[in-house]
Formats: sequence, C-alpha cells, structure tokens
Amino acid sequence: MTETTQPPDLDSEGLRSRAVEALSRARERTALLTSCVDDAELTAQHSPLMSPLVWDLAHIGNQEEQWLLRTVGGREPMRPEIDTVYDAFEHPRAERPALPLLAPAEARAYAAEVRGRALDVLERSPLRGAPLLDAGFAFGMIAQHEQQHDETMLITHQLRGGPAALTAPPPPVAPDAAASLPAEVLVPGGPYTQGTSAEPWALDNERPAHPVFVPPFLLDVTPVRNEAYLAFVEDGGYREERWWDPAGWDMVRRHSLEAPLFWRREGARWLRRRFGVTEPVPPDEPVLHVSWYEADAYARWAGRRLPTEAEWEKAARFDPATGRSTRYPWGDADPTPEHANLGQRHLRPAPAGAYPAGESPLGIRQLIGDVWEWTSSDFLPYPGFAPFPYREYSEVFFGPEHKVLRGGSFAVDAVACRGTFRNWDLPVRRQIFAGFRTARDAAEGAL
Ligand code: AVJ
Ligand code: FE
Repeated sequence: MTETTQPPDLDSEGLRSRAVEALSRARERTALLTSCVDDAELTAQHSPLMSPLVWDLAHIGNQEEQWLLRTVGGREPMRPEIDTVYDAFEHPRAERPALPLLAPAEARAYAAEVRGRALDVLERSPLRGAPLLDAGFAFGMIAQHEQQHDETMLITHQLRGGPAALTAPPPPVAPDAAASLPAEVLVPGGPYTQGTSAEPWALDNERPAHPVFVPPFLLDVTPVRNEAYLAFVEDGGYREERWWDPAGWDMVRRHSLEAPLFWRREGARWLRRRFGVTEPVPPDEPVLHVSWYEADAYARWAGRRLPTEAEWEKAARFDPATGRSTRYPWGDADPTPEHANLGQRHLRPAPAGAYPAGESPLGIRQLIGDVWEWTSSDFLPYPGFAPFPYREYSEVFFGPEHKVLRGGSFAVDAVACRGTFRNWDLPVRRQIFAGFRTARDAAEGAL
C-alpha cells in the first residue's frame, strides 16, 4: 500500500514564506504569553510540574540558535555558556528556578536577536539538498518547537493562581451540535497506511508510512462531554476499584482524586477554574484535564475502551469512499478557523458537535483541535523509525511508560497538529489539555 496524502507542492519562495509565516506566528504567541504577566511572575515557578515562563522563553531562543544558526547557518555560538541552562535533559523542571536564568529583558533580547539572524539564514539557505534543508524542514521543526512550548506556557498560565492574565472570545457553537448527531459511527476494517513519508514538516516519530491492519470498530462522533463524565463521577466512579488500572487506582487513592483537575464541588454543583476564572462546569464541552488513567476508567465504566492510536488515525485520515488518506479529517487543506479550534484563538474547547466543516468523511467531529485525545497505545517507534535530527525529540521517550495523545488541543497551533502528529505523556498527567473519546469493537461479521 502506498501513501496517498498530498501535501502542498510549493516552490522555494512559497516554502520560505511559509516558514517565515510559521515562525512569526509562533513568536507573536510567545510574546503574548510572556508579556501578560510581570517579571516576578515570569521568573516564579507556578507549579513544580512546570518551568518558570522565562525558562521557556530563552529555551525557545536557544533551540533556534542551535538548529537554525549553528547547524543550518554554520554560525558560531552566541552564548555557549547558556546551552546547559536551557538543556531540558540536564535539568528537570522542578530545578529550573534555581538555575542562573537570563532575566526577562535579557531572554527577550536573546530570542529576538536569534530570530533576526535565523531569518537571515533562511534567506540565504537553499531549501533542498540535505534532510534538514529539504522543504525548509529545520525551520518548520523550530516553528513547531516554539508552538509546543507556547502550549506548555499556556498550561503554566492555567496552573498559576490569581486573576486572569489572558482572555479570548468563546468558540463558535454549531447549530447541529451534539443532540442531532449519532453517538458513534462504524469505521470499516481493512488495511490502512499509518504515519507519513510525504508530509514535509512531519517529525521523526510520524515516519515512515507503513501498512497496518485495523479491524472494524465503532468510534464516538465527539469527544466525551463533561455531562457524560460527570455521570461517572456521580456514580462513584472514583471510589470503585474495578474500573481502574491498578496504577491508576493507586493514584486515585494516594491523591484522593474525585474529579478532573481544576474541578471543585460546591453543594450540588460542580465548578471549574479556567485561566483565573471559576465557572460552572459546562455540560456540553469535552472533558478536559483528565489523566490517561481517568480516561481508561471512564471507558471501562461505560462498557467501552479507548481507541488505539492506529484506529484514531484511520478515523481521522481514511476516506472509505475513495480509499485515500488525507492530511486532516476534512481533506488535505491546511486548517482554517472554520475547521478546528486551534492556536489559542479560544481558551477553551468548543462544545461537542462543533466544527461541522471539520468533520471526517464518516461524520466524526473535532478529531483535530479542542482537546488532545488519549489513545490506548504506548508511545513506540513505527517500523523503520530513524531518529531525526536528534534522539532526544522522540527516541528517548519510546516505551510503555508514555501513552500517545492525538489530534491537538485548542492550545496548539496548526503547524504542530495534523492527522499523523503524535504527542505523548505519562498516564498520570492531568494538567495538559487532554480529554478523550471512546471506542468499541464492531460486532462479529461487521464490515
Ligand atoms: C511532544 C509535547 C511531549 O513538551 O516535552 C518540546 C515537545 N520537545 N521541546 C514536550 C518538546 C522538546 C514535547 N512533547
Ligand atoms: Fe523544548
């Protein structure tokens, strides 16, 4: 089976402007996330799970310097002494506030100076002839890196106490949201080509395209809603061991968990805190801030299961009418605001059933954007995987300790989100913008 995805076919000026645009959009977001709080808040550690925001800022600049200036541009290091401070592997997040970090003004100036030079390197580089240069890969990789840290910084904002520093308009509500949609659809079984060898800015773990066989299964049309999840909570789901993976049950007991992170019971109703505002839990929104263990327990309680990663991707990319796979559920076109809730345009998921223009050929909604979706799969290399351009992006994380998330959240930019994009995290993680949808095996004999 060959891959039938059709990524955009751009000439080198088109690629250059695509790279400039992706880098600029990332920097605009970084600037907003690091200018809406004062210097004290930038250097504070809001949670031991997260870096101070000023670390992310200079780390973004440092990665860009290492890859675009030194490796691609052949330039000398600007400040070699800071490399170790911003090496994520040398210093776990909890230790980062104690490091000799660049002060906010210095970090901003460093990142800006690196960017100026990187755009100069981009102007002068041929965008072909070497794997890092082909289709502007290194520039796309660095734009994705910055956007991933922008999502990380938004998580820090969510964990931070105090009044709201960021606001955004609510996402659109579809006229036919949820109620008029079927609960689940059958995804036909058969061979499927998972991953990609064609998407120019796909990262190493998405490669190569390879055949898998996906048996027929049924998948929720939307992510699981708060109201449905609340039924699990109210049914005593967090008090019944039988729904939980043993390690998940251990987590529930040790931390006395009883609901998603940021939820609080007040009398008969549930409230949640979202970017400094406390509000009633909206029943129609996809559930957010649940760990893999909670997603897995809910699915068991509901008599269902999490989809595998291959199932999720087939549902998001395969068109049974044509036998083709597309880059996104709606086709090959890059995401627009009509397709999906991406890019921190809204600081919450849209109600389940939103974004009709983004649905898959089978009518599955919100696969891209809104909430990252936990899958049942461990984060493992595809057959034929090769680390590129560095082992520490994916390879060192492969193994059963990390679970795969798919589809992207409202907090991630389109450049770092597509039908093949793979995210991963520990199954205990709750502060990430993750929810899930459920699946079940098709009855024996179904196509
Ligand atoms: C792919 C989101 C798990 O944040 O740890 C950022 C992305 N890698 N810098 C992470 C990443 C290096 C990564 N995730
Ligand atoms: Fe990083």
